[in-house]
Amino acid sequence: MTGTEPILEVSGLVKHYPLTRGILVKKQIGAVRAVDGVDFTLGRGETLGIVGESGCGKSTVARLLVSLEKPTAGAIRYRGEDITGLSPRALKAVRRNIQMVFQDPYTSLNPRMTVGDIIGEPYEIHPEAAPRGDRRRRVRDLLDVVGLNPEYINRYPHQFSGGQRQRIGIARGLALRPEIIVADEPVSALDVSVQAQVINLLAGLQEEFGLSYVFIAHDLSIVRHISDRVAVMYLGRIVEQGSHTEIYDHPTHPYTQALLSAVPVPDPEAREHRERIILGGDVPSPAHIPSGCRFRTRCWKAQERCVREVPLLAVPETLRTAGGPAAHDSACHFAENSLAGRELR
Ligand SMILES: Nc1ncnc2c1ncn2[C@@H]1O[C@H](COP(=O)(O)OP(=O)(O)OP(=O)(O)O)[C@@H](O)[C@H]1O
Ligand code: SF4
Ligand SMILES: [Mg+2]
Repeated sequence: MTGTEPILEVSGLVKHYPLTRGILVKKQIGAVRAVDGVDFTLGRGETLGIVGESGCGKSTVARLLVSLEKPTAGAIRYRGEDITGLSPRALKAVRRNIQMVFQDPYTSLNPRMTVGDIIGEPYEIHPEAAPRGDRRRRVRDLLDVVGLNPEYINRYPHQFSGGQRQRIGIARGLALRPEIIVADEPVSALDVSVQAQVINLLAGLQEEFGLSYVFIAHDLSIVRHISDRVAVMYLGRIVEQGSHTEIYDHPTHPYTQALLSAVPVPDPEAREHRERIILGGDVPSPAHIPSGCRFRTRCWKAQERCVREVPLLAVPETLRTAGGPAAHDSACHFAENSLAGRELR
């Protein structure tokens, strides 16, 4: 399902964490540039997949979207209104509509609370969402909606499997009937066999409740079937974004091409024909981001220009005239729908 009207518009989003030295007198000696200028939109009813390696800033973006943290700069517009400068009261009303599902269902559920109390907890924070007398019934309905037996309402998290616990986390995320769910690696901690079930559940819930999703993963294969659009992050920035077809079948940024080349391909013939790109070196620290293109220290196509000039996220000039699926946002001076890119299907 692809929405047209954006429900969320993110522009120039920045989150820097100060690096300090000294015990009594703290002196700022630098900054961890966890999120360093991110722009994207989320359409109503749409799923945007955000993908990137560990430490590239995905969870920081998630925390900013649900207002768990304040950005250093930039705007987050929900239904056209910037929510970053709202008063605590106005923000509380907005937060009802933008809920988060966390990565680790083992640590994100309080072990001393029953699932009924866990799922019903959002009603304590937003009592206006459900009259007290109706909450138990709602929690039972939510258990049913996520595929758990409503009779389990008095059980504790340790009595459930990982997949079931994530269903409890999802039920809690749905309690306030939000419009947007930010799911931060919701299946990464689960067995592969259970991952698809949880993704299918999320897809079904989207259909049923008209939800919009920001779905975060470290691997392009996880978001493949659920995303309408995909944004690839590297060191605090989006380096390529586009529709499902544009990213999976016509990647133009070397980083995306490398990530895709690592995705398992079930078809043996296709597997034989594709080029495997192994990225050299480590991801640089977000406290010391390379000049020019931040990917240049690991890019096999890097040239002089990449050291000096920051490539902007836009449709590259060379691909614009030809049009077609290769003409989408890519932050590379030498973006091309290369042969390697096409073979990565
Ligand atoms: N509160 C903080 N103070 C200082 N640095 C932080 C803080 N939170 C995150 N960082 C740093 O910001 C960078 C981005 O972290 P973030 O958790 O957003 O990455 P991520 O993409 O979610 O990684 P992962 O895949 O491991 O979950 C990392 O280098 C991290 O160490
Ligand atoms: S701008 Fe240069 S270093 Fe950056 S991805 Fe493109 S070719 Fe590689
Ligand atoms: Mg994370």
